[in-house]
Amino acid sequence: MNGIMKAVRIHNYGGPEVLHYEEAPRSQPQAGEVLVRVHAAGVNPIDWKVREGQMKDFWLHKFPLILGWDLSGVVEEVGKAASRFRIGDEVYSIPDPTRNGAYADYIVVRESELALKPTSLHHIRAAAVPLAALTAWQALFDTAQLQSGQRVLIHGGSGGVGHFAVQLAKWKGAYVFATASGKNQDLLRELGVDEPIDYTQQRFEDVARKIDIVLDTIGGETQERSWQVLKKGGVLASLVQPPSEEKAKKLGVHAAFVASHPNGEQLAEIAKIIDAGRLAPVINRILPLSEARRAHELSQSGHTHGKIVLRVKNGNGSLERKTS
Ligand SMILES: NC(=O)c1ccc[n+]([C@@H]2O[C@H](COP(=O)([O-])OP(=O)(O)OC[C@H]3O[C@@H](n4cnc5c(N)ncnc54)[C@H](OP(=O)(O)O)[C@@H]3O)[C@@H](O)[C@H]2O)c1
Repeated sequence: MNGIMKAVRIHNYGGPEVLHYEEAPRSQPQAGEVLVRVHAAGVNPIDWKVREGQMKDFWLHKFPLILGWDLSGVVEEVGKAASRFRIGDEVYSIPDPTRNGAYADYIVVRESELALKPTSLHHIRAAAVPLAALTAWQALFDTAQLQSGQRVLIHGGSGGVGHFAVQLAKWKGAYVFATASGKNQDLLRELGVDEPIDYTQQRFEDVARKIDIVLDTIGGETQERSWQVLKKGGVLASLVQPPSEEKAKKLGVHAAFVASHPNGEQLAEIAKIIDAGRLAPVINRILPLSEARRAHELSQSGHTHGKIVLRVKNGNGSLERKTS
């Protein structure tokens, strides 16, 4: 342990009121790890799911726990046997979600979970990228093996994962259908969606047909109604609820549940695509770290577009180089 820092921690599971902005001990990097000065932390639904205790049977978290598994910052200290990054490198990361997170001044991260951040993005915008973009990447490319020319349906195309999935699918050369409510139809078009669908006005299955890949970010009835839009051999990939293997077999399609995982190499690939101007985060709201409760309330509404980011180091956020 080495000094004190500010962090947002929980001491027990519960509502937004269990988030406490307080002093916490700062850890030191061990072998293969680096200490990162966090400049900004992205907010994701997993943060409030962990806060509520929804993940307690899967991840053995210890209290008090620092939340937040999305960050952009600067390498401050390098542990033994860590050789890929140097002090002063500007990095972004999804740290291991079973350990303390990034709602803090400092975080210890394994080198394998880090990449140099996109040079074209300021920390606030870079912090919006790792978890959502990597999830979209792993779902579309690793799990569903998306190929150019395929037809993709992305549910929640305006959301954190969805808005990256739309852009990555277009980058790969797919024909993209995406759902969102009326207020987000313009955003879907700006992101490059070929056929935006307002799920409050239209049944998506009336518009999207002969689909190769459905990316389900919603679950429930949306997942259930998605089987019928798939062509034979298609893939239903869900982020929220394992689709029925039995049903997939009966219909001659594939079902997959995607659990994204930290991967510094893939983050480096994503940074290149961002710097080439082919992918960009959309920022919905920037809040100071001390307002993490508000950030959780917003995320938990299920109807924010793009990403919410917590500003951790003051002085970040006004220098954003791209508009959302
Ligand atoms: N398995 C994994 O590894 C993994 C990784 C990342 C995320 N996830 C999960 O994936 C889900 C999505 O994550 P996220 O970060 O994208 O969430 P998010 O940003 O909160 O998603 C919000 C978006 O969903 C849209 N939406 C809500 N209801 C909808 C519906 N019935 N049909 C179509 N769109 C709808 C909203 O659009 P409107 O406001 O227009 O309705 C909004 O833009 C979460 O449950 C998250 O926990 C899982």
